[in-house]
Amino acid sequence: MTSMLLRGRTLTFRRRPVSMDDTQAYLYETDGALLLRDGLIVASGPYDAVRAQAPDDVVEIDHRPHLILPGFIDTHVHFPQMQVIGSYAANLLEWLNTYTFPEECRFVETAHAARIAVHFFDEMIRHGTTTAVAYCSVHKASADAFFTEAMKRDMRMIAGKVMMDRNAPQGLLDTPQVGYDETRAVIAEWHGKGRNHVAITPRFAITSTPEQMSAAQTLAAEFPDLHIQTHLSENRDEIDYTLSLYPNAADYTDVYANYGLMGPKSLFGHAIHLSERERDVMSETGSVAVHCPTSNLFLGSGLFPLKELARREKPVRISVASDIGGGSSYSMLRTMDEAYKIQQLLGERLNPFESYYYLTRGNAEALFLSDRIGTLEPGTDADLIVLDMAATPAMALKAEVVASLSDELFLLQTMGDDRAVVETYVAGRAAKTTLG
Ligand code: GUN
Ligand code: ZN
Repeated sequence: MTSMLLRGRTLTFRRRPVSMDDTQAYLYETDGALLLRDGLIVASGPYDAVRAQAPDDVVEIDHRPHLILPGFIDTHVHFPQMQVIGSYAANLLEWLNTYTFPEECRFVETAHAARIAVHFFDEMIRHGTTTAVAYCSVHKASADAFFTEAMKRDMRMIAGKVMMDRNAPQGLLDTPQVGYDETRAVIAEWHGKGRNHVAITPRFAITSTPEQMSAAQTLAAEFPDLHIQTHLSENRDEIDYTLSLYPNAADYTDVYANYGLMGPKSLFGHAIHLSERERDVMSETGSVAVHCPTSNLFLGSGLFPLKELARREKPVRISVASDIGGGSSYSMLRTMDEAYKIQQLLGERLNPFESYYYLTRGNAEALFLSDRIGTLEPGTDADLIVLDMAATPAMALKAEVVASLSDELFLLQTMGDDRAVVETYVAGRAAKTTLG
């Protein structure tokens, strides 16, 4: 297969930056290049050194003056909620009951699921998100539609058929046995096929009976390598309702702990209002708190204490996500802009290097996938984005006075969206400019 050489300014992270001037945390080449072959990064570094390793027939693409980064990773997104975005509701439970559950009922129709899947992958690519961790609906066919489209695009995706057997419309309910059987079927059909990963996905404690939580526990024990995803401590009314349904639990986190669902591969969406005890449990089990800033602001759920959780003596692992359709933007740039503002309101600083670490390597590490995605390391998947800080007239004007890499990253985060994504490479192929 022909090799491809991308030239531009390259940026990749080695670890989480501890401060603005922690230059050892990242690798930045002002004239950098990436050599791609067979969907992988074969070499990366200064242009001259990488050019010297390229074969004669290499196809060279010059992205100067733009920035080349690993593709963004979104660790929590609901694929059946594309038409829920921007629904006017007072809070989470009203939003779920009024808009979200009725909309997800439509995914019983295979044709609808297939249509929305096409749009979903188009938007991921348009916004520079090359890997997402997605909730499908309760219907197995929605997971089939999702993974079928992921295979077509050759994208590395993690997703699960939602398990839910109470407190929702009849059309959205499975049973403990059906949820178990269909999750097993989805794993058998899709896990490890192409670049697909299946996640065990009990929606949240409110919509699962204790019997279904036990079924999720059985699945987790049978498939210990799989990710688990659910929601935790997003909203005060949600917490109270959960505790009324599980009166023997010490707190919300304890509900999941009691069913063996905590652990390094467990992703807990939101996790905003955790007590010190719950934070300790999150930390001790290595569970991930998934920060969804646009959603938390849109639904008025609360201010996620990102910096506080990260600097505890027992730190909590953290990732970031859009949470479409509670979230209001597919763009991970917009997501980090809102994350920044939430920390501002809490009197904390989230520096731009830290933000881009989370969007790339940080989210990959949260998923234990940094050996495949989230960096520009040779041998990893060639999932990349090219960013233009002067993508709009207003951005171009501001770009005139940008004097440093951190200024540039901050401008992209503050004003950027899909328009700033010049190209998205998926497994070494230009996927954005070739969108239908
Ligand atoms: N909690 C349970 N389901 C959902 C969902 O779809 N979105 C959000 N934001 N929270 C949830
Ligand atoms: Zn969610």
